[in-house]
Amino acid sequence: MSTQPWHTAWLPDDAFAPLGRRVIVVDASADDAAGLAATVVAEVRAAVERSGGRLADARADAGADLVLAVDPDAGLPPEGFAIARQDGTTRVTAGDEAGLLYAFFHVVRLGERAFDDALPASTHAPAHAVRMLDHWDNVDVHDVMGQVERGYAGGSIFYAAGAVRDDLTRVGAYARLLAASGVNRVAVNNVNVHRTEARLLTDRLGDVVRLADAFRPWGVRVHLAVSFAAPMTLGGLGTCDPLEPAVADWWADAVARVYDAIPDFGGFVVKADSEGQPGPFAYGRDHADGANVLARALAPYGGTVHWRAFVYNHHQDWRDRKTDRARAAYDHFTPLDGKFDENVVVQVKFGPLDFQVREPISPMLAAMPQTHLALELQVTQEYTGQQKHVYYLPEQWSEILGWEPWADGRTVSDVARDVVAVSNVGDDRFWTGHPLAQANLYGFGRLAWDPTLSPEDLLDEWVGLTFPGADPRVRDVLRDLLLGSRATYEQYTAPLGVCFMVGPGHYGPGVDFYEYSPWGTYHFADRDGIGVDRTRASGTGYSAQYPEPWASTYESLDTCPDDLLLFFHHVPYTHVLRSGKTVVQHVYDTHTDGAARTEEMARRWEDARGLVEPDLFDRVRTLLAEQVRSAGEWRDQVRTYFWRHSGVPDERGGPLY
Ligand code: GCU
Repeated sequence: MSTQPWHTAWLPDDAFAPLGRRVIVVDASADDAAGLAATVVAEVRAAVERSGGRLADARADAGADLVLAVDPDAGLPPEGFAIARQDGTTRVTAGDEAGLLYAFFHVVRLGERAFDDALPASTHAPAHAVRMLDHWDNVDVHDVMGQVERGYAGGSIFYAAGAVRDDLTRVGAYARLLAASGVNRVAVNNVNVHRTEARLLTDRLGDVVRLADAFRPWGVRVHLAVSFAAPMTLGGLGTCDPLEPAVADWWADAVARVYDAIPDFGGFVVKADSEGQPGPFAYGRDHADGANVLARALAPYGGTVHWRAFVYNHHQDWRDRKTDRARAAYDHFTPLDGKFDENVVVQVKFGPLDFQVREPISPMLAAMPQTHLALELQVTQEYTGQQKHVYYLPEQWSEILGWEPWADGRTVSDVARDVVAVSNVGDDRFWTGHPLAQANLYGFGRLAWDPTLSPEDLLDEWVGLTFPGADPRVRDVLRDLLLGSRATYEQYTAPLGVCFMVGPGHYGPGVDFYEYSPWGTYHFADRDGIGVDRTRASGTGYSAQYPEPWASTYESLDTCPDDLLLFFHHVPYTHVLRSGKTVVQHVYDTHTDGAARTEEMARRWEDARGLVEPDLFDRVRTLLAEQVRSAGEWRDQVRTYFWRHSGVPDERGGPLY
């Protein structure tokens, strides 16, 4: 058993038992530059020591139950592997050491099935070469945002109160969990780069070296969020104009020092001209100018710049009905298609706003064919219940990854080369605050590897690993709680594609909190109706940013999907949805039903009592009680808001205040 104070998540010792009972050969004669084969050997050795199997000599693999081999000539794609069962031996061949590592965890996932003679032969390779988690961790505790911006799982596992932690054992354990889920890149600091964090690039580089050392044995390369103003704030230059040669030289020197210290460094993440962060606009330059100066410094070493497209005006005048935050990223970036250097990755949030429960998928993803794009998701549950509510994110992500911008078979997963997400991990014992939010972290890595996996199968996989040997009722309870949880949350929060409606800190209802604010106005409710007119005909014109058939689908009230209705259209409360219900009755019903569903979920969890470890049981139980309370608050406030604005009573007669 693990002796560490943190939870074993999806890698408890018992998950390795089927493999650990076997005779195993690891044949990694290839040049193991990254040391990943050594990691696999150490894993196998530990597993067989725990469970009574044996690590056999690579030269005599006859009679082994499992052979894990690297063969660079096997014609496998990077990180890929093939697995087959023949004559009582399961043989896994990887094209490289990274493939060996992923193959090993594949065998762990298969459990006993890996040794079943009926195991079908299969080949595996990641759909996305870069599968990355962005940490919004601060080195210093930020006055407003704390140690981890939008973190809901305690402090940072990297930093504590102004310094990188002395003991990075837990970072190694995290890296191991990530490797087992398929993640291969991590950005180690917040995209809002404050003073101390900016120095990770220069005089605090040693801290990044230590983090990179902790991640390296697990095939995870480290990236750094940097400030565009670094040549001024750290370098003492009078400008950070990207076209100024001294600025380019400064970046080139800084990057050279980084690669000297971390030869496998991944690159930079940059939030520029966004929510107060410095950027190229100050010099009349565009985002291609800005990104390319960093990219050129990184190019000689194979590094990349993940340049975020989250650029919009957060000083809006609400009286100006033409300014639409939803339009902003597309308007800023699509004219630059083709102008970014090869190693610039433009990183696009999945929706045009900000990780909402329901927003359309960003049209920018379909409009930059000559640009290397990354899809950005959020594992941390900023707007999705802050790891207090059960919200199984793979249900949302597989919908996003599989969406077809042209309705012709090409998906978001096909156009976005990298898949990136903001991490939900902190120094909480369960890593993610809500123990069930571990399924989101696991699901992210797996979907980034294979976007066609179904959320149901992923859930079963996660349950099988996390609770090996548990009573089958555990799986049933977890299925009941997690599957459909996204829909439940959507039912009791902002309806029909209206965004935000959250209070300060983005938790709990705040129906009018953002209305008429400089950050944007999101529903324009009055006594006659609600929603934002984003049509080309009479609104902001956002719908025209989509290719066909979506531009027309969203433009017309007749074809716009109900769940995005209020994102695209301003309608009367009595507008009739496809379900036959009016908008207002739909809001009444969904809020009543969604909140009631959370009560059922809390009751259902009682069925797991005694079947899972007591502290996990108690944590989930406590959080479900909070979810029930919060959902009731949402229900009452949203229902009452609609009643007071529309004057239409609830046909079902529920309480309105
Ligand atoms: C959201 C979030 C911020 C974050 C920003 C970003 O607006 O609330 O905390 O900095 O997204 O993605 O940059």
